[in-house]
Amino acid sequence: MCGIVGYIGTQAASSILLEGLQKLEYRGYDSAGVALVEGNAIHCIRAKGKLHNLKEKLENTPSPAQLGIGHTRWATHGKPEEYNAHPHMDTHRRIAVVQNGIIENYRELREALKALGHEFRSETDTEVIPHLIAEEFKQLDLGEFENLRGLKNSLPSPLTEAVRRAVNKLHGAFAIAVISADSPDELIVARQQAPLVLGFGQGEFFCASDTPALVPYTRAVLPLENGEIARLTPLGVEVYSFEGQRLKKAPRTLNWNPVMVEKQGFKHFMLKEIYEQPGVVRACLEAYLNPEWSQESGVRSQELSALPHLQSPTSNPPPPSPNPQPPTPNPRSPVRLNLPTTLYEDLQQIQIVACGTSWHAGLVGKYVLEQLAGIPTQVQYASEFRYSASPITPNTLTIGVTQSGETADTLAALEMELHRRQGLATEFQPRMLGITNRPESTLGNLVPHIIDTHAGIEIGVAATKTFAAQLMAFYLLALDIAHYRQSLTTEQIEKLLDGLRQLPAEIEMILESQERYIEELAHDFVETQDFIFLGRGVNFPIALEGALKLKEISYIHAEGYPAGEMKHGPIALLDAKVPVVTIAMPGTVFEKVLSNAQEARARDARLIGVTPMDEQEAEDTFDTLIPVPHVEEILSPLVTVIPLQLLAYHIAARRGLDVDQPRNLAKSVTVE
Ligand code: AGP
Repeated sequence: MCGIVGYIGTQAASSILLEGLQKLEYRGYDSAGVALVEGNAIHCIRAKGKLHNLKEKLENTPSPAQLGIGHTRWATHGKPEEYNAHPHMDTHRRIAVVQNGIIENYRELREALKALGHEFRSETDTEVIPHLIAEEFKQLDLGEFENLRGLKNSLPSPLTEAVRRAVNKLHGAFAIAVISADSPDELIVARQQAPLVLGFGQGEFFCASDTPALVPYTRAVLPLENGEIARLTPLGVEVYSFEGQRLKKAPRTLNWNPVMVEKQGFKHFMLKEIYEQPGVVRACLEAYLNPEWSQESGVRSQELSALPHLQSPTSNPPPPSPNPQPPTPNPRSPVRLNLPTTLYEDLQQIQIVACGTSWHAGLVGKYVLEQLAGIPTQVQYASEFRYSASPITPNTLTIGVTQSGETADTLAALEMELHRRQGLATEFQPRMLGITNRPESTLGNLVPHIIDTHAGIEIGVAATKTFAAQLMAFYLLALDIAHYRQSLTTEQIEKLLDGLRQLPAEIEMILESQERYIEELAHDFVETQDFIFLGRGVNFPIALEGALKLKEISYIHAEGYPAGEMKHGPIALLDAKVPVVTIAMPGTVFEKVLSNAQEARARDARLIGVTPMDEQEAEDTFDTLIPVPHVEEILSPLVTVIPLQLLAYHIAARRGLDVDQPRNLAKSVTVE
């Protein structure tokens, strides 16, 4: 939600800021602006709408300034108009500020500052910040301050001190960058609950809401932590706490490169990212499958007692063994997630918190964890969990799933859970785990254990490859817990591992054989107004995900339902104008799903089936088939989601919409 950038160094700041904003445009694109220190004044240029509008304005006013800040906005307070665009300035236009976040106490501050004579020009919460800094600066006794600095050079500069005093008066979540016409050699930034990363170059320093804006210039980065202020000058970076203490910090090196954030010949990032999925699955397998695991060291099937979660609903339980032997412990797990076994000891429950697509991954995770590892699992919307958390139960593992690692609702839910569990006498160490694509994110600092999904940076606002990677994380976690609890036989584990290893080729097969066909099919739905997606069991979350993808990028109304639930109400929506996409994979619910699809057909709906080739019954049921390979049912979401992503992409592209930056959305939702 909103992207901020800053630059101080020896090059022209405006082009560096623009390029940075372009990399951050996925965070919001309602308006954009830059402020540059030129001579002893601040030159501020802003434009409504997408970045290219600002670019055009800047082309007409080239600037040699070597210090500046920039912003791309996702509107929260105030309409997306130029007068609300950042940067915002104080009354005398000496201080400029860009902000990502929300200042909750802005009304009180605004009234107090107005009473002191400050003149406001926008409807935003952000505008209080430059006025407050100007006021704090005015209140500083500069003579005394400079004397003190002479005695104790760990004290911040006057501008840093004014910013420090100001941020201590702000309530809410924010990341800010500040410049002053009276301090042409410094850029001050601060962070509280919103992401901000510093970049270290040679005689030049950068700040940005996210690393893609930095990688064209440097891979040496330092993510600021909550409650930290940094002062960037051409000579280096100083970091202070909000209390004014100087902190020792060293940058770290990012292990990805600028090419990863280019389209590489694809028309949109989303399509490129869909095509990257076989590689993402391979990367997860390479990173996490244990090459030392062998069938010989596993648990033989006859050693397993009859576990209810491993039986199909129709199978009879095997007779109890007259002389039950404990299974031979297997020293090696088939996966190496490097998680401590204390996470799994006496584990009674798992709760997953997430939003959007990550929540859908959590629903697949629930299915997989319950069916493979036998652990009761709940999945909660993070935004709901925060205000209606389930009663606390001991021996519960809480998993936060967020590709960005910055989603405010998910972070707040996890923080709340961390505090709740720390207060529990029975649990000294709360069991918390994060699944994220950005281990360097706020999530990475919040929870003690992380599964890094290794998907590479995702730019398209619609999550695709990170969803696939999150599913992989859940399969691997379920296998690790299943191994620990010995809830699967060696044969079952080996079968799943084989299935996982085949996934990349199977996804490739769909991309190669179906993309053209789906592109053609998309023609039929350019004018469609409503879509229904159906699935059952492990593919119900995929129906939800198919509907979400279509909604967010094509603006077509779409609903995902468990196929068996249609007859309880939603079937009333169906007629010849409402296509029904049904996921029907052979397994426990195949026949049931086909019957549910027939019910839709009887209401004249056009039926599109995502189903394996040569399943005669399916072929007879659906009007249109999107064939996918035969895959073990529990692993099938990684295959069935691909045609749904492609369908959403091609419908949106055919409607001429901005697939990578759909209206009203932002990639990283860093406000509540
Ligand atoms: C996905 O296509 C959406 N843009 C959105 O639902 C997203 O999944 C959600 O905002 C959560 O993001 P996160 O994974 O970064 O926490």
